[in-house]
Amino acid sequence: MSTNKPIKAGPTKAFFVRMLTRDIDLADAILDLLDNCVDGVVRELKRLKTPSKNGSPYKGYWAKIQATPDGFEIWDNCGGIPQDIAEKSAFMLGRTDFTRDSDIETVGMYGIGMKRAIFKMGRHSVVVSQPDSGPYKVEIPPEWLDDEPSDSDQVDNSKNPWQLELVRVGKRLPDNGTKITVTQLNYGIGRQFDNDKSPFLADLEKEISRHYALILERGFAVTLNGTRIKPVSLKLLAPETFGATRGPAVEPYVLTGKVGDIQVDLVVGFYRPLATEAELEDEELVASSRENAGWTVICNNRVVLFNDKTSKTGWGTKGVTPGYHNQFISIAGVVSFRSTNSMNLPLNTTKRGIDTSSEIYHLVLNYMREGLKKFTSFTNRWKKNEEATQEAFSTLQSRRPAEIVKLAKAGTLTKGRTHKELSYYSPDLPTPEEKQKQRRICFAADQKDIELVAEHYFDDREHDRSDVGRRCFDESLKRAKRGLQ
Ligand SMILES: Nc1ncnc2c1ncn2[C@@H]1O[C@H](COP(=O)(O)OP(=O)(O)OP(=O)(O)O)[C@@H](O)[C@H]1O
Ligand SMILES: [Mg+2]
Repeated sequence: MSTNKPIKAGPTKAFFVRMLTRDIDLADAILDLLDNCVDGVVRELKRLKTPSKNGSPYKGYWAKIQATPDGFEIWDNCGGIPQDIAEKSAFMLGRTDFTRDSDIETVGMYGIGMKRAIFKMGRHSVVVSQPDSGPYKVEIPPEWLDDEPSDSDQVDNSKNPWQLELVRVGKRLPDNGTKITVTQLNYGIGRQFDNDKSPFLADLEKEISRHYALILERGFAVTLNGTRIKPVSLKLLAPETFGATRGPAVEPYVLTGKVGDIQVDLVVGFYRPLATEAELEDEELVASSRENAGWTVICNNRVVLFNDKTSKTGWGTKGVTPGYHNQFISIAGVVSFRSTNSMNLPLNTTKRGIDTSSEIYHLVLNYMREGLKKFTSFTNRWKKNEEATQEAFSTLQSRRPAEIVKLAKAGTLTKGRTHKELSYYSPDLPTPEEKQKQRRICFAADQKDIELVAEHYFDDREHDRSDVGRRCFDESLKRAKRGLQ
């Protein structure tokens, strides 16, 4: 006779508390909490039907992070967690409803970020949230993180070890929002929250300024231990009108369109004029400018890759594009993917990297390479002659990528080769005139003589030597043309 016997088959708390938290960096865990704040704003904007405030839709919304060796707190005014969501799913480990938020551009996908971040940092946490319906509190005490001893062979189905309590509280937050406090920090976390012992907080500030560059620029305020974080610049040089000169001009390459439910916008070009030979010899300048070159990839307004210079973004593809080197220090590109279905974005599971197997990313990568190639070729063609391009750059202005896409759309775009939903603008960049006929003249002269000639032409014995040589040549050329000796 067979007897049916219930056996244990659920997850353990230790799995979530000890294992899952190992796969994520502390900084990424904190960014997950900030992502929740921003998703909160996106939901609020939809709920309140807020009209866009001149390109600053996030204005008035903030998140304040306090991280000290004693504890961690993140407090926002981003609308709060609706009580029914808190009751049904927000505190579960994993999402139950994958269709929620299917009409807005959020990044919450898996239903794990908030809990993983809390468990990563410490053993005691309190979430106070205030949606429209009023404030409540959910506490996760240290004992909750421990599993029941598993030595008993009896399965007790009456107890649910995964339950928490939501308690309505009387004290209101000044604005609707959420405050998460984590104390009893885990080993090593407090040390990282101590500026005297660790560079962690300085690095976190940098990561936030990059990851939320677009969102901060559009008005969202993030403070870290009281200091407001400034966004990095993602601007590129572009003219007011595309195709205005009817001839070659320095303009960015632009791709825009919607493939399925993913809006793609790509801009690549120069963020500064070409670096001259003298500039490239200046190690400090090269080191500081290097950070600004490369590809930035953005998904639902979050920067996922920042100024990448690897094959992931199309650099160094055999036979197509060269690998990054300092000569290309003026080139930058920004590509943005937006979708109300965040699962379709080319994001990896930590959301801080690209899912390189994504179909949409591969499709766009071809255009990224094509655009990039234009600007590496231009840089190569004008090598040692960079100053001659200065005039072509003089009419350009630093502009946000979204503005550049708008300006390019006002001109004439070409339909994509494989996907007609995409259209692009591929500029006709200037080429050096009769460069093949140009030759370099190079010779050494006595220093005293150089100083004498420099004084003669420029009233300055120390004047730049290449200018002095050029002036001598120009004068001789004038005389030669007039048939003079
Ligand atoms: N600061 C916040 N403001 C408003 N709602 C929040 C906030 N933090 C969390 N939530 C709510 O709690 C839910 C659970 O958050 P959690 O980060 O664990 O998962 P998720 O954002 O849905 O998915 P992911 O694991 O991809 O981040 C969110 O979906 C959201 O509804
Ligand atoms: Mg989340």
